[in-house]
Amino acid sequence: MSVLKVINYGDDVLRQPTEKVHKVSAKIQKLVNDMFDTMYAYNGVGLAAPQVGVLKKIFVLDCSTDDDPMPQMVFINPVIIKKSGAILSREGCLSFPNVFTDVKRYADVTVRYMDMKGKMREMTATEGSLLCRAIQHEYDHTEGILFVDHVVDRFTTDNLLHENQLPPIDANRILSEPDLDNVLMMI
Ligand code: NI
Repeated sequence: MSVLKVINYGDDVLRQPTEKVHKVSAKIQKLVNDMFDTMYAYNGVGLAAPQVGVLKKIFVLDCSTDDDPMPQMVFINPVIIKKSGAILSREGCLSFPNVFTDVKRYADVTVRYMDMKGKMREMTATEGSLLCRAIQHEYDHTEGILFVDHVVDRFTTDNLLHENQLPPIDANRILSEPDLDNVLMMI
């Protein structure tokens, strides 16, 4: 059990491609335990392996709130296989201390992944729930994508980044998301 160092925005490791996990070995089990310890130590809802410098397709979540306890969840080799709708989501990230901003997300997603027993599973999260948004945020980390790539207000966010001694948004990384824009325009 140990709390790992969380890598901040600006470090290239957060942009690197990740590898699939072939077997849930003792080493992977230890990594997952350490990721939970780290996530709780930093009061996070989710954490992905690249954020602790491990380039593997793994993320962990605990979307519990005071009135709604949820189990700990581990997603190995996640793939989002269905997505629809759109919402604005106010998000932060443990790799961006003190930065919170609105980003575009799907309202409903289905993720296919492997659990800690090596079994394939699917989970659907709907209505822009915390779980639904967290799955998208953490899945992105396993693809080298960061929440600011979905930014709504680039200039306000750049100011926040600057105030927190983080690099500005990379304009070349901002995602073109016409399917989300079309839905958001109608809300
Ligand atoms: Ni994050």
